[in-house]
Amino acid sequence: MKVPHLVQYQGSKRVIAPEIIKFFPDKIDRLVEPFSGTCAVSILAAAENKCNKFWVNDINEPLIKMMEECVNSPERLASGYSDIWEGQFQTDLNHIDYFYKVREEFNCGMKDSARMLFLLARVVKGAVRYNVRGEFNQSCDKRRYGTRPQIISDNAFKISRLLRGKTYFTSKDYKEILALTKPGDLVYMDPPYQGTSNRVNPRDNRYIQGVDFEEFVAELVKLNNRGIDFIVSYDGRTGDKIIGKSLPEELHLNHIYINAGLSAQATLNGKKEITYESLYTSENLRSKHDECVQLELCFG
Ligand SMILES: C[S@@+](CC[C@H](N)C(=O)[O-])C[C@H]1O[C@@H](n2cnc3c(N)ncnc32)[C@H](O)[C@@H]1O
Repeated sequence: MKVPHLVQYQGSKRVIAPEIIKFFPDKIDRLVEPFSGTCAVSILAAAENKCNKFWVNDINEPLIKMMEECVNSPERLASGYSDIWEGQFQTDLNHIDYFYKVREEFNCGMKDSARMLFLLARVVKGAVRYNVRGEFNQSCDKRRYGTRPQIISDNAFKISRLLRGKTYFTSKDYKEILALTKPGDLVYMDPPYQGTSNRVNPRDNRYIQGVDFEEFVAELVKLNNRGIDFIVSYDGRTGDKIIGKSLPEELHLNHIYINAGLSAQATLNGKKEITYESLYTSENLRSKHDECVQLELCFG
């Protein structure tokens, strides 16, 4: 089965999700994703029957509401999207000005899921950008009209079939979610790249909020102390260049690099470099880690 995804989203783990879920333990009571974005890992885990209960959370409320509507009311999301998408051909505005009108409406409070989806479908590489006032300020991809409504609808229904009735949605800071996890849960964390949000770096505004490194490490120490299994995607390297700080050894994590393919940025600069994404698994998952590394050594 081709695993469905709703819309492009910068930072999505859709491409490397199959590598990530190899590290999952054999029994998971509940998969918790505190930085779920477009839920690529939960969607694949459901498709592969890795688990039957999911908690997805993201600080970006319109985004999580969009995913919730996708799962619980796919027909509503698909028809709302179709209306907005068709609207760009039924107006006196050209399709670029139409995008800015929808963006303006969104920033003025019309934050419904269909509008969020349309904005994501129309911006370059699904890259969200917010200004310091929290307004969506990414510009549109002028060469495209955004994913066709039929494709959105097909994917929304497929995602719904995988997650409906099994998924709990929240929009809170990740620390609140971690505090409520319990043994038996597997927590998969995909925080923003270091330095990609207003809070951490005022010059980079990819996400609505950021994650402070020391605070994040302190949260992982708490999970270790409470015996909660977790997996973290955290930066990585492009070619030989390490991106971001590594998670400290005192956490006793297992660390591997996943080949995420050619770096889009390096390609733009005329270089051919592979991006490797770091994956850390908590100490309890050591046997699974060794199994995966062993398989990798045998079969490449
Ligand atoms: C790299 S993206 C996750 C992508 C996701 N794995 C996917 O496949 O689509 C990181 C997400 O963390 C969210 N985020 C940033 N700060 C957060 C916080 N303090 N608490 C919860 N979520 C946060 C962002 O809104 C963003 O959607």
